[in-house]
Amino acid sequence: MGRKVTKAIFPVAGLGTRFLPATKSIPKEILSLVDKPLIQYAIDEARAAGIEEFIFVTSRGKGALEDYFDHAHELESSLRKSGKDKLLETLRATNMDSGAIAYIRQHKALGLGHAVWCARRLLQEDEPFAVVLTDDVIQGEPPCLQQMIEAYEETGGSMVATMEVPTEKVSSYGVLDVAEDMGAIVRAKGMVEKPAAGTQPSNLAVIGRYILAPTVMQNLNKLKQGAGGEIQLTDAIADEIAEGRDVFGLRFRGQRFDCGSKAGFLQATVAFGLERDDLKDEFAEYLSDVMAMRRAAE
Ligand code: UTP
Repeated sequence: MGRKVTKAIFPVAGLGTRFLPATKSIPKEILSLVDKPLIQYAIDEARAAGIEEFIFVTSRGKGALEDYFDHAHELESSLRKSGKDKLLETLRATNMDSGAIAYIRQHKALGLGHAVWCARRLLQEDEPFAVVLTDDVIQGEPPCLQQMIEAYEETGGSMVATMEVPTEKVSSYGVLDVAEDMGAIVRAKGMVEKPAAGTQPSNLAVIGRYILAPTVMQNLNKLKQGAGGEIQLTDAIADEIAEGRDVFGLRFRGQRFDCGSKAGFLQATVAFGLERDDLKDEFAEYLSDVMAMRRAAE
């Protein structure tokens, strides 16, 4: 059965072109949903799943991201002096233990698989690891990565998060070829990145949460170029299947937002805003007024 997973890789070295001009000077991982940067959602989810070491694969221009994890001593003491305990608590919840975070550089955006490979020396040779893409923000209880860890502890092998997507959207994703459908868990017999329309093996798309066997890192050593000329993580996972090792997909329970796209980010803002006790009444009223005005204008 699966060995305990305590390290997670967060590849954050992409160019973020879909979010220009915002991403001209700030990393997209710092963009906030309501009042929390995307990266904090990912960290919180990983912590809930028992992750203890957080490896960021960064690139040029990601300084603001590294700074985000510094403890803000001055701010903390000013909040303490003015008795703003609630804010102090919020701020402290973002503090990471010394040595829990490592940054490693990807010098060129050669693809997600390459970004993951850049972290290879920070893992032991026989160590399974998680990969979390901060673009995918998931509302779920328990959080998605925890659901996956629980499933993985039963199955071992590698495990990817998966969800059904409409046929017209499937070619934007990595897609599973299903050997055995056990309900929440499926066993894959293949995996293909961005299949051309009509060639997809299923509508089960892989989204940005992975628990990977150490052999996936060895597969990445080949640095094979795949779809779009990029070194694809999907291909390294597909190699596992080709070599006879288990790869599973988990149909997680929850709602996923593609915060790498503008529409997805806006939807997530609405969903998370409506969940907040301090905002939901005013926000819901505003949204229904807007909708009523739109309908009246039609
Ligand atoms: P995306 O496909 O969303 O690419 O990468 P991107 O560059 O971030 O964004 P767009 O498409 O230009 O708007 C998925 C994830 O993989 C990381 C990204 O940071 C993101 O978390 N990634 C991608 C890397 O770290 N390095 C790469 O070479 C490619």
